[in-house]
Amino acid sequence: MKIARPARIRAEVEVPPDKSISHRALLFNAIADGMATIEQILDSEDVRSTARCLRALGVPVDWPEGSSVARVTGQGLHGLFESEEVLDCGNSGTTMRLLLGLLAGHPLLSVLTGDSSLRSRPMARVIAPLREMGATILARRGDTVAPVVIKGGDLRGIRYESPVASAQVKSAILLAGLYADGATTVREPSRSRDHTERLLAAMGASISVDGPSVTVWPADRLAAQSMRVPGDISSAAPWMVLAACHPDAEVSLRGVNVNPTRTGLLDILQAMGADIEMLEQREVGGEPVADIVVRSSRLRGTTVSGSLVPRAIDELPLVALAGCFADGVTVVRDASELRVKESDRIRAVVEILGRMGAEIEERDDGFEVRGTGALRGTRVHARGDHRIGMLGAIAGSLADEETDVLDDAVAVSYRQFWEHLGSVVNTVTA
Ligand code: S3P
Repeated sequence: MKIARPARIRAEVEVPPDKSISHRALLFNAIADGMATIEQILDSEDVRSTARCLRALGVPVDWPEGSSVARVTGQGLHGLFESEEVLDCGNSGTTMRLLLGLLAGHPLLSVLTGDSSLRSRPMARVIAPLREMGATILARRGDTVAPVVIKGGDLRGIRYESPVASAQVKSAILLAGLYADGATTVREPSRSRDHTERLLAAMGASISVDGPSVTVWPADRLAAQSMRVPGDISSAAPWMVLAACHPDAEVSLRGVNVNPTRTGLLDILQAMGADIEMLEQREVGGEPVADIVVRSSRLRGTTVSGSLVPRAIDELPLVALAGCFADGVTVVRDASELRVKESDRIRAVVEILGRMGAEIEERDDGFEVRGTGALRGTRVHARGDHRIGMLGAIAGSLADEETDVLDDAVAVSYRQFWEHLGSVVNTVTA
């Protein structure tokens, strides 16, 4: 897709539903008692991967093509069937890692795989703790990457010190903990997103949070939880950064989830001096939600590190872009997790923004950008990584001359992205 910078932006965007919450709504209701209706579920390739795997495990998921309402008939904690097929998780790390946690509690043999990106992403981080709990797991390359074979069974509760702040790792262990013989505790270096804790508590699980530690106790049953999924702050992020960096812009974003474990980008942009207004704070599906207005801003460089990193992990590529339009230097560190996302996002950000003329340097655990206030359009390859595809498109909307984004994969999380960009900037061509 080709894109050029518009002179002026005045737009309102209905942000798509949250991806993390949509996955969890399907997965947790699959093992609940009763039927759940999930309204405003995210219809994206990743969430469809979760639905497909659950159906293969015998869970009725009624979710017609193009629909934003899914009905899940819960099978109870022990009601999954052994799948005849390999479970294909597509591009979705959340699907694979959370399913492994869930399957650890079932005495079934399952084989999980995914696309070439997912087959190269680290799985030892969930395999090690789930084995410690008692599941039998084998995987390729010394039990580190998919395809993964799992046979679950009787589990014991553990205390696990996770070396990474990862909600996927935490969630896999907590799900397995529902099936263990005693309490299971996961402690993270700093807090990752807490959608699992919120939803499991709402479904009646015994779960407690103590700073960076979460403990779950074995469950007899989960109650089905019908819900409405709030808007995804990670899909609002491209519009926030576009509006803050463009010289004549105002963008309103409706119904954005502002769960404090997810709002790192808002804090970062505010520290950079961005003009951001939060309106109509309310609650949707057990999560805080607000409307957000972002206007053209004079930005200054900032440093992002430590506990801020997991709170903005999927938005850090866009922080690099904001850094290109800020005065001074923007530094992102402690973010080596970016190297094991759908692509190596440190390398991708540095190469793409570098080709567009940014003064950006790669570090082992992040990058440093010196703001120049300008980029020039060119052809960029997004490597089949949806977040990098959106980064390229937004960079193109701020650059001099035309940008051509190839292999963007935006449908993984945001099917209508190009359509929305077309209406925001009016300068998109196929
Ligand atoms: C997710 C957690 C994050 C995030 C991913 C979705 C989730 O990954 O990057 O896009 O839904 O739990 P990690 O938990 O592995 O950091």
